[in-house]
Amino acid sequence: MKCKFCNSKCTLINNFGEMPIANGFLESHAIDNYSFELVTMFCEMCKLFQLFKQPLPELMFNDRYPFFTGQSERMTKHFEDLVEFTILPLIKEKEKSFVVEIGSNDGTLLQKVKNRGIRHLGVDPSKSVNLEAESKGVSYVQAFFNAQTVSKIKKEYGQADVIVAANVICHVPDLKDLFLSVSELLKSDGIFIFEEPYLGDMIEKVSFDQIYDEHYYMFSVMSVQRICESLNLILFDIEQQNTHGGSMRYFVSNNNNKVINTRVIDGYQKELELGLDLVLTYLNFKKKCEEKKNKFISLIKKLKSEKFSVAGYAATSKSTTVLNYCNLNDNDITYICDSTPQKVGRFTPGTKIPIVSTEFMRNNPPDFLVLFAWNHELEILNKEREFLGGKIKWVKYVPEVEILDNWI
Ligand code: TMP
Ligand code: ZN
Repeated sequence: MKCKFCNSKCTLINNFGEMPIANGFLESHAIDNYSFELVTMFCEMCKLFQLFKQPLPELMFNDRYPFFTGQSERMTKHFEDLVEFTILPLIKEKEKSFVVEIGSNDGTLLQKVKNRGIRHLGVDPSKSVNLEAESKGVSYVQAFFNAQTVSKIKKEYGQADVIVAANVICHVPDLKDLFLSVSELLKSDGIFIFEEPYLGDMIEKVSFDQIYDEHYYMFSVMSVQRICESLNLILFDIEQQNTHGGSMRYFVSNNNNKVINTRVIDGYQKELELGLDLVLTYLNFKKKCEEKKNKFISLIKKLKSEKFSVAGYAATSKSTTVLNYCNLNDNDITYICDSTPQKVGRFTPGTKIPIVSTEFMRNNPPDFLVLFAWNHELEILNKEREFLGGKIKWVKYVPEVEILDNWI
């Protein structure tokens, strides 16, 4: 029960039971060959909310990794804006600059950097997404970002002006090595920008499905500040984001003289008001997760008992937690549709619900569709209005368990 960052004693919070690899969509109905107990804990010392048992990164981020950033138009636009309005203004001399992305996935972000004629490099361990990045002309190294990789990059390319990472730092088990490697690769006035699902949003919305194997950590301003301080880095700015159900963008520098934006102080204050520094807040969260679980199961079982057909929209890593925690299978949810070709024809990890194409779902609409990609609600509802308007009702569970019937 030791904190993975500062080694202090933690308090156990949730126990969601045995879980498979969240993105380990099954090729056949075969039995999953790996499971671990999904348990969370909180460190009062460094304020880090984290997983008790962390499955090895190689089990998740491998050649078959099926998550492709470019699947969401909104995320593509989000990264366009990140490059245009945040990264480019930080670049002083275009010709001499170098931008590195940790977890470059299918190259959605770096393609924009490349198009601006700026030297770039992606670092990602998964071949499946790297091949997609390659097809966009994005340069990458297939590796985990760590001290060893950084030493090679530094020798071959030199130091970076900007290091960027989106939804990936929470996947890295050894945070100390990660931040020190970033510090090593950054020029003295370079900037590290990373954004992650935000702990404050998870607590407020009781979005417990943010908790799965890949999310070793759920960060907050107070935990990132403590991590930086202890490694002689400085957190000098933050920006709230509405992506991935509520995220926070953190700006970190090696330069300790950097002026700290008031947003950091205000963000910290807001977290104190939310009680993110207190164990009690997390024990309360645990109770609310259990209440939500029971409410969601009751609703699905009630719909089934009334002979309605129920299917799901989007086979997400988040849905692996929900389905396994709630013990729902294809008797409850007949199928789940997803736009990712690599997921179609597979089965959900643990619960073995078949994954079909969005087109199949549109041709065979159920009475109720559970919105598993609730973080893409606007994009999905706007898109599906044309195909599903008047035919289906949505079931939501974030922030509340509810039926959305009036959505046209
Ligand atoms: P995420 O919640 O981790 O971003 O995963 C989103 C999943 O939802 C991914 O598998 C792609 C899928 N998806 C659709 O099927 N249709 C859509 O319109 C969008 C935006 C996502
Ligand atoms: Zn700690």
